[in-house]
Amino acid sequence: MQKITVLVSGGGTNLQAIIDAIESGEIENAKIVQVISSNSKAFSLERAKKHGICAKVIGKEVYSDPMKRSEALLCALKEERTDLVVLAGYMSVLDVSLIQEYEGRMINIHPSLIPKYCGKGYYGKRVHQAVLDNGESTTGATVHFVDEGVDTGEIILQERVPVQDEDTADTLAARVLVTEHKILIEAIKKLTEEKNRGGK
Ligand code: GRF
Repeated sequence: MQKITVLVSGGGTNLQAIIDAIESGEIENAKIVQVISSNSKAFSLERAKKHGICAKVIGKEVYSDPMKRSEALLCALKEERTDLVVLAGYMSVLDVSLIQEYEGRMINIHPSLIPKYCGKGYYGKRVHQAVLDNGESTTGATVHFVDEGVDTGEIILQERVPVQDEDTADTLAARVLVTEHKILIEAIKKLTEEKNRGGK
């Protein structure tokens, strides 16, 4: 059974997609052992509680010292014997020691076709507004491993999404989000099936 910790900061639609995929059996032999939010007001926490999943807050509000915050995060991951860390709309910076500890076992979902529109300052609606400002006809979503860079880790899955003439950042965000959910579930399935088959 692959134990998954999901790191969140906001509304949690990606978290909800993972919860639904596990409950429906689309993702097999995996369990969300905890949800950790950087933000005490994140609706993600309500989503977790509604499904009986352990929900914790580890963020600036609780740990002002970044090292203490990182230690608390690492402790929580180990306490639940996490096999896979999924960043799902997670907006806080992770300490490099944590990223190294979970190298190859930590993934992120980003709402663009990396390497375009990613890195410092490219998050949420800003990504989609930049796509529109540059007149792109296509954008997409990417699931990648987390490394020491920002959105620079090895790509696991990507899928293109068309940009429509009348799109706003909001309408484009909503269309890309559907694809984010789809490829995030596909990536988790791929990784957990590999691990359950005794893969690397
Ligand atoms: C999504 O676009 C995700 O890619 C980005 O945050 C947005 C909201 O995600 N990182 P969620 O609804 O909180 O999962």
